[in-house]
Amino acid sequence: MVNPDHPIRTLISEAAIQERVHLLGQQIESDYRGRPLTILAVLTGSLIMLADLVRRIRISHRIALIQASSYRGATTTATTLVINEAFAPDVADRDVLLLDDILDTGRTLAALIRHVRDRGARSVRTAVLLRKLGRQEVPLEPDYCGFTIPDVFVVGYGLDYNDDYRHLPYVGVLGEHQGASGPVSHPRS
Ligand code: XMP
Repeated sequence: MVNPDHPIRTLISEAAIQERVHLLGQQIESDYRGRPLTILAVLTGSLIMLADLVRRIRISHRIALIQASSYRGATTTATTLVINEAFAPDVADRDVLLLDDILDTGRTLAALIRHVRDRGARSVRTAVLLRKLGRQEVPLEPDYCGFTIPDVFVVGYGLDYNDDYRHLPYVGVLGEHQGASGPVSHPRS
């Protein structure tokens, strides 16, 4: 199941993820009761969390998907974010919760927040499974966050390396160098 050339150390266990996602679902359910909620999941990394999270939210809500790909210019180091909303229905007058796998620099979510606001959403909030410490370039506080992690490359529970490892039920550190890891915290109840 796991490529022996790429050993993986478990950073967040399956049980810890399930417990945390359950709590986030309860929190979202209580925050959005009576409101027209659309959970807009960012492809592809958030798909596994999406499936688990929505089954913990027992209020009426819609599910939609959006894709954001960044491309580096041939002659410059600047990156362009291309948004594909082929599977995102109308969000006008909806309370949108953007769901992403990981907050790294923050550029993706910041651009998507602007995009969804421009589409006329009533409100826009963000939920992420992971937030990487020491990497953020854009000021942005996720409204719902599963775990804060150190600056290591992680895979599993939706996150990939070379389009593999998304299926792992836990989050692990890939290709680890000694001392790169640290404690995982649970920032919100
Ligand atoms: P920004 O920098 O815009 O990007 O916050 C977030 C996106 O970067 C990818 N990313 C990772 N993917 N393991 C991954 O599999 C990682 O450790 C990692 N760090 C960033 C991811 O696609 C995320 O949506």
